[in-house]
Amino acid sequence: MADSYDIIDHSFDVVVLGAGGAGLRATLGMVAAGLNTACITKVFPTRSHTVAAQGGISAALGNMEKDDWRWHMFDTVRGSDWLGDQDAIEYICREAIPAVIELEHFGVPFSRTEAGTIYQRRFGGHTTEYAKGDMAYRACAAADRTGHAILHTLYQQCLKHQARFFVEYFAIDLLMDEDGACRGLLAWCLEDGSIHRFRANMTVIATGGCGRVYESCTSAHTCTGDGNAMVLRAGLPLQDMEFIQFHPTGVYGAGVLITEGARGEGGYLTNSEGERFMPKYAPREKDLSSRDVVSRAEAIEIREGRGVGEKKDHIHLHLEQLPPDVLNKRLPGIVETARIFAGVDAHKEPIPVIPTVHYVMGGIPTNIRAEVVRPTDDNPDAIVPGLMAIGEAACVSVHGANRLGTNSLLDLIVFGRAAALRAAEIIQPGSRVREANGHSEERALQRFDRIRQSKGGNKPGEVRPLMQEAMQSGFAVFRRGDTLKEGLDKLLALRDPLERVTVDDASLEWNVALVSALELANLADQAVVIAHSAVARTESRGAHAREDYHQRDDKNWLKHTVAWKDDDWNVTFAYRPVHLHPLSNDVQSFPPAERTH
Ligand code: FUM
Repeated sequence: MADSYDIIDHSFDVVVLGAGGAGLRATLGMVAAGLNTACITKVFPTRSHTVAAQGGISAALGNMEKDDWRWHMFDTVRGSDWLGDQDAIEYICREAIPAVIELEHFGVPFSRTEAGTIYQRRFGGHTTEYAKGDMAYRACAAADRTGHAILHTLYQQCLKHQARFFVEYFAIDLLMDEDGACRGLLAWCLEDGSIHRFRANMTVIATGGCGRVYESCTSAHTCTGDGNAMVLRAGLPLQDMEFIQFHPTGVYGAGVLITEGARGEGGYLTNSEGERFMPKYAPREKDLSSRDVVSRAEAIEIREGRGVGEKKDHIHLHLEQLPPDVLNKRLPGIVETARIFAGVDAHKEPIPVIPTVHYVMGGIPTNIRAEVVRPTDDNPDAIVPGLMAIGEAACVSVHGANRLGTNSLLDLIVFGRAAALRAAEIIQPGSRVREANGHSEERALQRFDRIRQSKGGNKPGEVRPLMQEAMQSGFAVFRRGDTLKEGLDKLLALRDPLERVTVDDASLEWNVALVSALELANLADQAVVIAHSAVARTESRGAHAREDYHQRDDKNWLKHTVAWKDDDWNVTFAYRPVHLHPLSNDVQSFPPAERTH
């Protein structure tokens, strides 16, 4: 029974949930500011998914060619298909420069130019002169292992500052007050099976995205968006979840990422006729157009019978024309990935690739100080006290309807830092930590117990593929009313099997079957929101490309979707206005315009 759990209590100024780039950058800033901080993580910090980020982190340093943070801002607004909030985009693009220099000073081993400055490469959608000039060299890279370099450095910095880690703890749910404030969270220690109550004046969700909602994705198996599902269960909404990014170069059949940096270094795509097809779709930017544009182009080539391979169902990425030392020095990880996962020698033959789910643009709505917001009738930006969200878990919104490559690592660092700055402003170290006065703890434990004792259905590993298939077929690169509805119906038909999975063994020590069941429940919560949000948005914008509504419809849809899900799988919507004005007078606003490439 739920009431039989012994609970171990902890009290901190701040609890950060997640130890990827965002969680570690926030933790570091919090401890450096003297806040007693716990970082709770279900995987060892350096195994967080940030480790897999490859191509770079964007900042208009101008180390290779002239650059300007305003150009970066314009590209990000344009890339977002004008759904990004321009105040937040000014903040991220401006802060990018000091944030990356700070990373360099922390010890991130960036690749170097001849002059000894940080090496920067080209990336999709990043231009100069407000898209009137050449492609920008803006992605600061550590070969093709930039995330790995950043994650390890941040972890070392956290250790240097003696941050407190709770490693291999699975978060169960948030502890919410009846007045709507967050007071901490409950977590399960995977190693010894104990249950922990972490009370805190600030809880920061940094649990990443939910790529594993889909069958084929570049995300680690751990990317189950646990924090976002906890937010839904706490009665708070998620924003813009219909916008799912497909990366144009996932390895065919394996889903593993081949960095866009490969095209930044001179790689290109061809179809079965050997044609470089991107100039047809994006005459100016070609293979370095935005991800949504390239993924759609690939999907059209395949659909029109020009895919490569026996089944004509994928595309070729060519790197074999690049000088061997470029591949060896700048893209060593890609050469290895191509060999292991595609069985090809990238020095000699093309790599088979296909658009693959890579990133969730939506997430927990926040302001630029990382504070979670929940729109009310009279305030679209009302703050949820005691709760922050950062990284892929959050929707600030800097990415809008389509994220530019390299803006994700940047998002982690800039808003991880912003969370720490804000927490240091509003939390007095050592101040009294309030208890949650609601029933959220009881509800959380009952739910945990119900899943733990659950019998009679299929195992999580049997049900999960059915959900993933429904998402993969229904909510793909191209969408249409009838196929979206079909996807939604398939998903709703899975409600019973998804909610009644069998967990054979109820033990609490290292029960990976229970972890799978909890993760599956978290994925299902988000899948439902993605599906309903996609059905509702009757326009094409960024990654949400509808064949029955070809055009972007600013009159009706220049707004953020805000979606709540209840226990009966009902989803209700509200909408928040897009912030069309920048933060300062140092840059003009960019009014909605046609996206050309
Ligand atoms: O292609 C890549 O290296 C991915 C980068 C990103 O998603 O930002």
